Amino acid sequence: MLLLHLHPKAVPEEALVFRRTFGLGGIAVVLFLLLAVSGALLLFGYEPSPERAYGSVREIVDQTPFGAFIRNAHHWAANGLLLVALLHLLRVLFSGAYDPPRRANWIVGLALLLLVMASNFTGYLLPWDQLAYWAVTIATGMLEYVPLVGGSLLRAARGGAEVGSKTLALFFVLHVAILPIALFVLTSFHFWLVRKAGGVILPREAGASRRTMVPTSPHLVAREGPVALVTVATVLVVAALVEAPLLAQANPGMSPNPAKAPWYFMGFQELLLHLHPAFAVLVVPLLLAGLLVALPYLRHGEAPSGAYFQSPAGGRSALSATVLALVAVPAWVLVEESARRTPPWLPFLPQAVRAGLIPVLLICTVHAGVYLLARRLFGASRLEALQAVVTFVVVALVVLTVTGSLFRGQGMALTWPWALAGSR
Ligand code: HEM
Repeated sequence: MLLLHLHPKAVPEEALVFRRTFGLGGIAVVLFLLLAVSGALLLFGYEPSPERAYGSVREIVDQTPFGAFIRNAHHWAANGLLLVALLHLLRVLFSGAYDPPRRANWIVGLALLLLVMASNFTGYLLPWDQLAYWAVTIATGMLEYVPLVGGSLLRAARGGAEVGSKTLALFFVLHVAILPIALFVLTSFHFWLVRKAGGVILPREAGASRRTMVPTSPHLVAREGPVALVTVATVLVVAALVEAPLLAQANPGMSPNPAKAPWYFMGFQELLLHLHPAFAVLVVPLLLAGLLVALPYLRHGEAPSGAYFQSPAGGRSALSATVLALVAVPAWVLVEESARRTPPWLPFLPQAVRAGLIPVLLICTVHAGVYLLARRLFGASRLEALQAVVTFVVVALVVLTVTGSLFRGQGMALTWPWALAGSR
């Protein structure tokens, strides 16, 4: 019944086609519910103090019936939710569903993404093992590079100078109370805005007035049900087969080598190896966030077609941007890696200019080039050229994340993933 209240009585028949949304928003909701249930069960055993956190997780895993299974389900559903939210963002992005009348919902969606990331990150620390402790130390440590206010930001994020009992208490309250409540409230608002915009975006050609409407029940519900069941089944099967990581108890005196941030911050940790720190942790993330927030406000003079990539020209532009990023970003990483062993170029310039301003200006030039190439070479519209630029950014970030996560070994030197696995 509750499900039906979330939906209108009837929906356009075209909205039922799976590839319209790939069910991603719905899958995110199911994962959120799974997280709430498994998280509530974990709370029966978990104790949020540095002395007891690790031991209590060990007891859940080793001594509690189904404890390991519930912890695994929570862990994989949490990572799945972040991945699904990112894919949902891409679906919305490439169908152009961020423009009015969905502009406000795009912004709400971005806030939801931040909340999901924050939930993941605060949960990361709770087991208080080496992985948790050092990943949070590295990720919060990046804040120190923010000019002027870095130190204060770092202390605010950790609840003190070091990751310790205050950090654990802060992360625990955020993770089990504040963030879930905020997620619940904002998700409800998100659904309301979907309805207010008249449902999901549909291809224009069919003409809104000629759309055939069908009753939500059974048509839409009969499609959502199986997607929800497959989602739950997938999480449970993965939870039964793959253990969530749990290393030795946190040891603030012994950092693992390499010490890495969680995978969703790895792209920025990788950037730290190439750019001046203030640019890697402040300027580039701000430019990225600015681009995502500004997207629905950029005037391109046309309504989105509702089709993926708008038209074949849009598709070709996005594909070319993908290929370009797949070639250019690894090449940049390799050139930078060999340059680390040679004296710096333009040594008379301050490091912020040499390794910050100049590379960031070059990166912006490449993006302008992608825009112009899409317009001139493929005859893309302004909207399509803009989407090609965002595609380049997304693929570049994925390449940096994969490089940092899989191809960085001891001392963050480039290495093959199998060598990394062997050294663990
Ligand atoms: C917890 C995370 C999220 C949940 C549970 C969620 C849920 C949903 C659902 C159920 C829909 C209806 C259609 C569909 O399934 O695609 C939807 C649509 C939408 N979402 Fe999300 N979403 C989340 C995150 C995001 C993010 C990160 C963005 C982008 C920044 C976003 C932007 C939108 C927009 C603009 C629509 C309308 C799309 C259209 O009309 O075609 N959402 N969301």
